[in-house]
Amino acid sequence: MTVPIAIIGTGIAGLSAAQALHAAGHAVHLFDKSHGSGGRMSSKRSDAGSLDLGAQYFTARDRRFVDAVQQWQTKGHVAEWKPLLYNYHAGKLSPSPDEQVRWVGTPRMSAITRAMRGDLPVTFSCRITEVFRGEEHWNLQDADGITYGPFSHVVIATPAPQATTLLAAAPKLAGVAAGVQMEPTWAVALAFDTPLQTPMEGCFVQDSALDWLARNRSKPGRDSALDTWVLHATSAWSKQHLDMPKEAVIEQLHGAFAELVGCAMPAPAFTLAHRWLYARPATAHEWGALSDSDLGLYVCGDWCLSGRVEGAWLSGQEAARRLIEHLE
Ligand code: FAD
Ligand code: NAI
Repeated sequence: MTVPIAIIGTGIAGLSAAQALHAAGHAVHLFDKSHGSGGRMSSKRSDAGSLDLGAQYFTARDRRFVDAVQQWQTKGHVAEWKPLLYNYHAGKLSPSPDEQVRWVGTPRMSAITRAMRGDLPVTFSCRITEVFRGEEHWNLQDADGITYGPFSHVVIATPAPQATTLLAAAPKLAGVAAGVQMEPTWAVALAFDTPLQTPMEGCFVQDSALDWLARNRSKPGRDSALDTWVLHATSAWSKQHLDMPKEAVIEQLHGAFAELVGCAMPAPAFTLAHRWLYARPATAHEWGALSDSDLGLYVCGDWCLSGRVEGAWLSGQEAARRLIEHLE
């Protein structure tokens, strides 16, 4: 019997590792505490259509990632988003065009991780609480006390704070993960019956509770009948208002949006708020991945590199590369 490799986390890092391991002929089994894949690249289905509440777009700078994105584009999983970009600074809104190529999943951000998942076996709604070694192999235990195994190796592909608790068998790696601070982001979606009278489709914001806002409907393949917007608060504001009720978060960020947008702002037909507790690492790292090959434990995620979609994908590749190399 082939003993599979366990991968905890079906964000883009875990799926990137899964794809590379599968391509090299290894059996994998993925686990995620959510009911679907994508992690911070997941999209929320709502009455206002599908909304990208986490990652908004991504850039591709590393040649390997550029190649992967090109393949996704050929298969129709991603398309270039060319928003009319603005910048808000010192109380002033101004157009801020540039030449940067920005990608989004189509018809929603989660299309990418959905396609990467393919037919790989995944157990969803399963929060792993313990990774422990038996005589020969690894086992996992979930929050309901159910045990899974045996596994030949374990790849942990979660945000750093969640990885720390799963790394009890490797105190050195746990120590490194514990040193990574991850900051929250409050996200709010608003939808309007009548389109807002602004050409703006994306805006980098300074000196505000907001950090970024995007016209979700301006992304390719979105078919909402409403004019949908996604607002992200800064890390500082999100930290300060971490436990604020969702209604109050919506009110405050809606207010900040109304202040900067420069056009009449009707009452939204639809609102929602989502709190990303571990949205982004406070600083970037250059680890690629963390590993203890003798033990058979590997760790990846955006926090091992740039804290962006590209960094997460590259980190998953690096974890898989190290694992495969150790087996050769
Ligand atoms: P994640 O996507 O977080 O995946 C980890 C997975 O592990 C999750 O699915 C989670 O459910 C699962 N998990 C965690 N603990 C357990 C457990 N104990 N048991 C089982 N499963 C578990 N990047 C960009 O490049 N451009 C952007 O515009 C951008 N905007 C962003 C905006 C926001 C609001 C946020 C939150 C992020 C943004 N990012 C952006 C960052 C980008 O989304 C991340 O870098 C990337 O998606 C991280 O992928 P990952 O696989 O490392 O982690
Ligand atoms: P990018 O190159 O588009 O942006 C990088 C940064 O450059 C922006 O944050 C912005 O400050 C500045 N910038 C870029 N184009 C600009 C323009 N036309 N006008 C004014 N400023 C401009 O994308 P990259 O490097 O791939 O970064 C990803 C984005 O994801 C960043 O904006 C980052 O803040 C965001 N992000 C947000 C997270 C969150 O939790 N809210 C988590 C991780 C990433």
